Amino acid sequence: MMNLDTIVGLCKRRGFIFPGSEIYGGLAGTWDFGPLGAEMAHNIKELWWGHFVRSHEEIYGLSSSVLMPEKVWDASGHLESFADPLVECKKCKHRFRRDQLGNSVTKCPECKGELSEPRQFNLMFKIGEAHLRPEIAQGMFVNFKNILDTMRPNLPFGIAQIGKAFRNEIAPRDFLFRVREFDLMEFEYFIRETEWEKNFERWRTETWAWIEKVGIDKKLVHELEVPEEDRAHYSKRTIDFEFDFPFGKKELYGLAYRGDYDLSRHIEHSGVDLRYADPESGKKFIPHVIEPTFGLGRTILAVLCSSYREDELGGEKRIYLALKPSIAPVKVAVFPLLKNKPDLVAKAKEIYGQIKNKIQSIAFDDNGNIGKRYRRQDEIGTPWCVTIDFQTLEDGKVTVRDRDSGEQERINSKELSDYFIKELN
Ligand code: GAP
Repeated sequence: MMNLDTIVGLCKRRGFIFPGSEIYGGLAGTWDFGPLGAEMAHNIKELWWGHFVRSHEEIYGLSSSVLMPEKVWDASGHLESFADPLVECKKCKHRFRRDQLGNSVTKCPECKGELSEPRQFNLMFKIGEAHLRPEIAQGMFVNFKNILDTMRPNLPFGIAQIGKAFRNEIAPRDFLFRVREFDLMEFEYFIRETEWEKNFERWRTETWAWIEKVGIDKKLVHELEVPEEDRAHYSKRTIDFEFDFPFGKKELYGLAYRGDYDLSRHIEHSGVDLRYADPESGKKFIPHVIEPTFGLGRTILAVLCSSYREDELGGEKRIYLALKPSIAPVKVAVFPLLKNKPDLVAKAKEIYGQIKNKIQSIAFDDNGNIGKRYRRQDEIGTPWCVTIDFQTLEDGKVTVRDRDSGEQERINSKELSDYFIKELN
């Protein structure tokens, strides 16, 4: 596998991802998404929403506030338990997570200064009386009654959302892997207690289906049964889906059985009845919850690591991203063979316009020789390039070139949009 710097370099060079606030020297744990990164992130969120929300009648979407009052975090247990052990160098003031340093390390890895005793450092950002949410799940729990009252769902049902979470990580690192501000895609699936194992298995299978759909190499993903002592305070069972990142095997996604912990705590702390009434018996009870959770940044990183390729095509070395067409930031690039032939350029613009009417994320490029234009598109993962040449002016056919194989075929320009739409679905 390639090293992380190769991926970071490509992302910067080609407009996918930049260091946050770069012209001021950056801010640790923040990254900004450029035109191609923003497009790809958007595609992944859309794909996720289709896979987990729109295709399930019993899963309801939500978009809740990023700011939530301290009472929520008291009830959820985050005020008390969402902390990492921190040590600080007495000389250079660098901070480290004690659990990441290893037991034998007693001096600062940066300057060999003396390290402080560990203390528990809460990872939530506080703003006035509120906290920036460290997980989006609590938005689903505090709106549980609103969903019951307005949508009248029967168990089992889910509440899903995509949104920002914020964690004051002590040591942000490894590009998008550990940052302070990130998007989560997640749902809470409410069930009867007796059915938790069946539902846990269901979402475990669906998570693997998602991994394949988004274009993460399954061979690089491994399940880890998280032992009790390492589980979050709310979890009765957790499986981590770990990925072989260039910096080691680390958590990509999580699947947790949260029992009735959250709803029970919110009933206790808010005094509001959050029980579900069985439609037949009228008996009220607190549903249990299965929670599949997906970090967007880690998804992007795993997709990039899975799709990065270096090979030789037509005797030339090239780099390409074998992205699934559904998430590629640019789906099709249209080229006139030569820039200085007005007839070719006009025909190419006309064909570009026709495709753009149906598939919006496409590009036009008339800069440099065709070989260079192919390389530029390969590097950003554009699945197809279309070239308009002199023959096109006579027979209306264009050359469509496939990114991965480099193979070319002649297709009538009138059939192009349908051809791509079919391939995209
Ligand atoms: N509601 C459950 C929850 O938030 P989590 O394991 O703490 O669980 C969920 O986080 C997912 O968020 C992780 O599986 C990972 O994909 C992503 N994630 C967690 N911390 C992150 C960080 N500092 N930077 C980027 N992604 C992170």
